Amino acid sequence: MPSVLQFVPIVLGQNFGPQVLARTPEPDHQVVTDAEESVANYDQVMETKLAISYAIATEAIYRTRKSPTSRALDVACGPGHLTLNMARDLEIGEMIGIDLSQTMVYTASKNAREQRADAVQFQEGDATKLDFDDQAFDLCTMMDAAHHLPTPETLTKALTEMDRVTKPDGHIVLMDLVRLRTDDVTRKYVQLVGQEYEDLGLADFFNQFRDSMYAAWTPTELMSAIPLKTQRKWISLVPRGLPYAQFLFGIPAGQSSLFERKGAPWQSSPVRDSDTKEYQLARLGLGFCRQTEIDRTPTGPSLSTHR
Ligand SMILES: C[S@@+](CC[C@H](N)C(=O)[O-])C[C@H]1O[C@@H](n2cnc3c(N)ncnc32)[C@H](O)[C@@H]1O
Repeated sequence: MPSVLQFVPIVLGQNFGPQVLARTPEPDHQVVTDAEESVANYDQVMETKLAISYAIATEAIYRTRKSPTSRALDVACGPGHLTLNMARDLEIGEMIGIDLSQTMVYTASKNAREQRADAVQFQEGDATKLDFDDQAFDLCTMMDAAHHLPTPETLTKALTEMDRVTKPDGHIVLMDLVRLRTDDVTRKYVQLVGQEYEDLGLADFFNQFRDSMYAAWTPTELMSAIPLKTQRKWISLVPRGLPYAQFLFGIPAGQSSLFERKGAPWQSSPVRDSDTKEYQLARLGLGFCRQTEIDRTPTGPSLSTHR
């Protein structure tokens, strides 16, 4: 496990100076993750530290959404581990996961059967053309997948679709990686965080992670993709210091604060014992984020407010 000290040069490099590193979209073969080996590697995600961000994502949804969730959609669900965790931990009545990759959907369905998760279904589908009625869901999520969308236009299409299928009093939650400031900082970060994937023999997963760090959107780019016509309030949340992830929430226009309750949906830790310290750090990070509100509702201010 990397020591906190090893992250110091990365934090320093990230926080002083403008964004220099331009975006490199995912290579064509990886936009839709269909290759058997890539899917098999990704299917082991719960054995890695990425499980920490999954726990943080589930906790963030728990805090922002107090009412029960009858029906939810997880867009670009991959092998479905986070979909299944959210359905279980947030007690979602009916959960659908969609992905453009047939192999991912097959793997996710197998995982659901093994976990006897009868309330969860997986099917093929495109984030930019959701095959669901307007306002069909209380909650719509997209985790670690926005960076797979090739252009700002496709990203906007996906967010517009998520906005369309979510009820006005429902929530949209997107979590993704953050493109770091320079190539040097990115290379150091990838080496440090990705070492675990190499140690576990997940070479393909390491490559996916490296490419994803170059394909990730900056928080500003992600915010620019919010649909212009929306009835929702949008909030970007980015951990200060080292942005290990970023969130974009679409919350009901009348919800006055992002988080409506404290705590987490589970009694005992959702991560491996060996990850407890990092999980606690990440949770602390969640409470120490840069929050930017983007209000595009007809009655709201059009300018962003930074807190
Ligand atoms: C990095 S994986 C994330 C999977 C999952 N959300 C998670 O967090 O474990 C990105 C997924 O996005 C899928 N994908 C890419 N473009 C898509 C699109 N337009 N519509 C649906 N899924 C897409 C890929 O096939 C891949 O399974």
